[in-house]
Amino acid sequence: MSSDPLANKAQAWSALFSEPMSELVKRYTASVGFDQRLWRADIAGSLAHAEMLAAQGIIGAQDLADIQRGMAQITQEIEDGRFEWKLELEDVHLNIEARLTALVGDAGKRLHTGRSRNDQVATDVRLWLRGEIDRLAPLLSDMQRALLTLADAHAETVMPGFTHMQVAQPVSFAHHLLAYVEMFSRDGERLVDLRRRVNRLPLGAAALAGTSYPLDRERVARTLGFDELCENSLDAVSDRDFALEFSSFAAIAMVHVSRLAEEIVLWMSQNFGFIDLADRYCTGSSIMPQKRNPDVAELARGKTGRVVGHLMALLTLMKGQPLTYNKDNQEDKEPLFDSVDTLADTLRIMAEMVGGTIDPATGARSGGISVKAEAMERAALKGYATATDLADYLTKKGLPFRDAHETVAHAVKIAMQRGVDLAALPLAELQALNPTITADVFELLTLRGSMNARQVLGGTAPAQVRTRIAAHLARLG
Ligand code: ARG
Repeated sequence: MSSDPLANKAQAWSALFSEPMSELVKRYTASVGFDQRLWRADIAGSLAHAEMLAAQGIIGAQDLADIQRGMAQITQEIEDGRFEWKLELEDVHLNIEARLTALVGDAGKRLHTGRSRNDQVATDVRLWLRGEIDRLAPLLSDMQRALLTLADAHAETVMPGFTHMQVAQPVSFAHHLLAYVEMFSRDGERLVDLRRRVNRLPLGAAALAGTSYPLDRERVARTLGFDELCENSLDAVSDRDFALEFSSFAAIAMVHVSRLAEEIVLWMSQNFGFIDLADRYCTGSSIMPQKRNPDVAELARGKTGRVVGHLMALLTLMKGQPLTYNKDNQEDKEPLFDSVDTLADTLRIMAEMVGGTIDPATGARSGGISVKAEAMERAALKGYATATDLADYLTKKGLPFRDAHETVAHAVKIAMQRGVDLAALPLAELQALNPTITADVFELLTLRGSMNARQVLGGTAPAQVRTRIAAHLARLG
């Protein structure tokens, strides 16, 4: 048996244990297979802790120097893929600490003074997540830029707006895309807001009650770039709200992606034929030679399931957990990791597929959604999309809106029987329904007339849409 206590799991924490852990328990309890991903945060946290311990005179200057030297070597080993992760050392924390002690001796054993893996892991996950948040924020902005790039060309492109999946009123394609920009922009706000609560330092809480060493928690917070301290040691080691908030943000963002993905799938289908996608985002069929399937959009829609699932997993993980740290919390990582990865990849690929990519050599953009404007317009002409405009027209002539609504229902019925659009009904026929109708009605009954009339703030009139595009672009900088 080795003299290094960390080298044998039966004695990793104390001599109290009289028999080694079974292989099955070892495998069941170990997290190193996945939490090694936290290694950079773990080392950063340890270095900040050690530097503070030395500044407070709790460890010596030489100890600090040894710890720094050891951690530099470990960093190199991990980066080079030479670090040997050991299952029997359970997790990322014990693996790194054991290696440190093997490299620098007693200084390595002093590192854990005034600290527990409970406040250590909470610190690591927060540090790691903060870094991921800062990588996700620009991806959300890129997604919005991609939508804005496409929208910019289509403020005048008419498509049917739907409610109940039935043609409702004409809107511009740009206006439709801007709805998604609003969603992703709110996702960005949520991310900024939750980052504040992620960025708080648990270290100093130790196992649960705080520590008797004179730690300078503010100093550690400053070193690690935390904005605030967790102010209750019990809460510091057990709180995973920050993970819940992030997961809920990620689930909402993926739900937004899934709605866009679904529309892309619909629009590309032969029955809509509103858009086409670049070949690079489509796949063929092994049996049907004519097929071009929007697999990327379908997968984005499908992967939303797992991210929503991760939120449920974490909520369930935390529900009913007594204070303070429980090993249950080790289960917070995989859902969080997968939500980050899935969301990041999905935002990247969707932004490319929507807005295209720019060739760095030529500056030319290619690969974005191509719009079939005539097909959109034809579809908008199908469902009497301007019926509300006729009702509004009558209301402005003095008819109460409910009566106008009823009159237009008759007009639509007549048009349907004839198989024509409202705008194709003869003036006399309209006047028979209501004598106040004059020839100026026809301008309003066209798709563009209807769209142009919606000048209200947030409406689909091209001027409104252009204003909103400019505001979004200014916000994104
Ligand atoms: N691997 C553990 C986790 O992820 C680290 C904390 C262990 N703490 C403990 N008291 N066993 O939660």
